[in-house]
Amino acid sequence: MLPEPLPRPAPISQEEFAARRERLMAELPEDAAVLLPGATLKTRNRDSDYPFRQNSDFHYLCGFPEPDALLVLLPGREAGEAILYCQEKDPQKEAWTGIRIGPEGAVRDYGMDEAFDNTQRANLTELLDGRRALYLPLADAAAMGLAESVRSQLSARVRRGAVAPTRFADVSELIHELRLTKSESELALMRHAGHITALAHRRAMRASRPGRFEYQLQAEIEHEFVWHGARAPAYGTIVGGGANACVLHYVENADLLADGDLVLIDAGGEFDLYAGDITRTFPVNGRFSEPQRALYDVVLAAEERAVATVKPGVTLESIHQGVVRDLTAGLIELGLLEGELDECIESQRYRRFYLHSTSHWVGLDVHDVGDYRVDGQSRPLEPGMVITIEPGLYIPDAEDIPSAYRGIGIRIEDNVAVTAEGGEVLTAQVPKAADEIEALMRERD
Ligand code: GLY
Ligand code: MN
Ligand code: MN
Repeated sequence: MLPEPLPRPAPISQEEFAARRERLMAELPEDAAVLLPGATLKTRNRDSDYPFRQNSDFHYLCGFPEPDALLVLLPGREAGEAILYCQEKDPQKEAWTGIRIGPEGAVRDYGMDEAFDNTQRANLTELLDGRRALYLPLADAAAMGLAESVRSQLSARVRRGAVAPTRFADVSELIHELRLTKSESELALMRHAGHITALAHRRAMRASRPGRFEYQLQAEIEHEFVWHGARAPAYGTIVGGGANACVLHYVENADLLADGDLVLIDAGGEFDLYAGDITRTFPVNGRFSEPQRALYDVVLAAEERAVATVKPGVTLESIHQGVVRDLTAGLIELGLLEGELDECIESQRYRRFYLHSTSHWVGLDVHDVGDYRVDGQSRPLEPGMVITIEPGLYIPDAEDIPSAYRGIGIRIEDNVAVTAEGGEVLTAQVPKAADEIEALMRERD
């Protein structure tokens, strides 16, 4: 039976995009301009392209969905501050690849004050005449090339009264700080991405059987994403059976799922460009063995405790330290580490089993932008930030490890939005307690 469609949240409004541009411009000097190219189509092979995905910073400021666009912001310009260059209208090309929005559509539907098509890029030089500081993504070679070409053209005209830029500055970090705090409408989209992602993980649990391939669970996951309008995964879906779960970014997904093994799925749908990022680990055959469950419960307890600590003022570092403490205590209890708890932590011996950090920002990018440290300190959480909590244990297949635990990899991951009082789990609709997973998997039969 096909699943019921979920009600769709509202897209980001033009007013909100405009307010974001205002907030960015408020941080710039008066004689500044912003140059921000969108993404271009990338060739996959011969004349086939990868599916188009807009650049996240560009999307954040205008929501314009086509390739090869350029956003220019000119704070204080009377004739309008927001200017867009975009693909030209071209009936012949549009007959092949679809209607293009064009400059008129950019003004009408995307809140631009003025728009040109890309054949008119030469007039950019005049628009930037008099702007001393160009804010652009310094890491973007195409943007740098464009800025340098404008600078050299204006420099050549200085004797005719042109004023050339003297400073290139990074716009990315300013945008990234804005992106770090999500608005109510962004949170609604992330809640939706989280919900779809949770439904996909439920579907994979129900589809799991010994003798199926990892990619068949990937197919179940991605079916559910697309069915609900999350048209692409936010990152490469990871389905790792058995010891493949110990490879942190395993994406081959090519092996058979074996009876008696666990399978780790780390997968997230992208809805209106916002990512979900869930990991669940469950038994291929629907029943945890005793050692699997013992290890699983250690990770689960650490994850649940960490989720419960999320609130404003707490740091990602302190959340991580709590997780390390819980996991290390569990490893000692199970005989996988020997010694005193504090000593195992201090010597970092736990890192043999847990070598990644517990959290990252999540938003338009799965590993979202924004500084993790401020003034050398781990940054305190604030309402509107969205993080992952994703502890794991990865037990090597080594001689000195009790055989029951060898090659087991477990990770449990949820997305949590920081609220005024605590945290809201955006990914709660898929079970994580071992009993609940087993109960859901019994529905298969
Ligand atoms: N899916 C990548 C991560 O969890 O960070
Ligand atoms: Mn993940
Ligand atoms: Mn993650």
